[in-house]
Amino acid sequence: MKCFCKKIYKILSQTIATSITCSCITYIFQLNWFWNEPDCALYYIRYMTIDFRSDTVTRPSPSMTDAIKNAQVGDDVFGEDPSINNLEAFAADMFGMESGLFCPSGTMSNQIAIKCHTQPAEEVICERQSHIYQYEGGGIAFNSGCQVKLIEGNRGRISAEQVAAAINPDDIHKAKSRLVSLENTANRGGGSCYEMNEILNIREVCEENGLSLHLDGARLFNAMVAKMQNPRDFGNLFDSISICLSKSLGAPVGSILLGKNDFIKKARRFRKIMGGGMRQSGIVGAAGLYALQHNIDRLAIDHEHARQIAGALSTKSFVENIYPVETNIIIFNVSASYSAKKLVEDFRKYNILTVAISGNQVRMVTHLDITADMVKTTCGVIDKL
Ligand SMILES: Cc1ncc(COP(=O)(O)O)c(C=O)c1O
Repeated sequence: MKCFCKKIYKILSQTIATSITCSCITYIFQLNWFWNEPDCALYYIRYMTIDFRSDTVTRPSPSMTDAIKNAQVGDDVFGEDPSINNLEAFAADMFGMESGLFCPSGTMSNQIAIKCHTQPAEEVICERQSHIYQYEGGGIAFNSGCQVKLIEGNRGRISAEQVAAAINPDDIHKAKSRLVSLENTANRGGGSCYEMNEILNIREVCEENGLSLHLDGARLFNAMVAKMQNPRDFGNLFDSISICLSKSLGAPVGSILLGKNDFIKKARRFRKIMGGGMRQSGIVGAAGLYALQHNIDRLAIDHEHARQIAGALSTKSFVENIYPVETNIIIFNVSASYSAKKLVEDFRKYNILTVAISGNQVRMVTHLDITADMVKTTCGVIDKL
């Protein structure tokens, strides 16, 4: 009997020991997962990353998430998604334009606009650094079969005189000039903004020469807040406008192309051809509407944060030239002895993320997930560098 009890005791104690060991191992694995999983709060406590790489890195706020949860949806390819229909109508009304089309990305809405405005072998006039030329994968040639006439602008902006000079004469040797595309704010110009007068003059040149005028307004709301301009002023001057919801405005996805009814009807067809027709897209459309209704005025805070960071940078001997900060983008040149790559690496040691946009230029972008404390921390780090 004694021997039997001893055996039972041994088996039980071994079982308990094994189960405790297993639990410990599971717990350690879970802890490790928590520690390294980017979606987990512990990850942020561990890393406290301050991400200035782009204003596209924002995550939906709790209120935006509620809007997403409560979204009424339907099949948008059938035109039956109420959230998308609301969003498109809201944006069109805001700009005083006839119609809107929700697209998955700013690239797609720009490319659809170019496709709608042009025929193959025609020419698109734009600034040398513009997104439609530099960062849309050669889409102008691929989607529209057009060539570009590049203008060397002033921090991403072109003038009416430059546009007039870039228009080809009516000569069979030359591509037919067909479209002018402006970018406001100009990303590679350091978030620079157009004066309304300049756009008016460009519009006149376009009208005199039978050209359409498109606006890549990925960050148009930043320009409007900085310059205290009205969306309808832009709606009056452009044949088409592309606005982004997923940049400064903090929505996870989306862009809206705006224009006349027949233009948007044609654009809807090209969106389908390009594979951009989505079904219950009201899930993300609701976030876009929330962004348009709540996140525009606060852009002034991002602009102030950008100015503070530029102020800190301006005291450093390795910073050679900072583009004037007009909105939420800071672009600066780093001295040859301290390359852009090295500065990005040094920032990274403090969990501050920035981007080297060339061998000697760094870009930092403020946005709605950058807090005043983060700006203070960043200025402190800059001080130490
Ligand atoms: C000026 C500009 N236009 C268009 C786009 C394209 O937007 P998306 O990334 O949604 O395609 C970007 C993206 O950063 C941009 O900066």
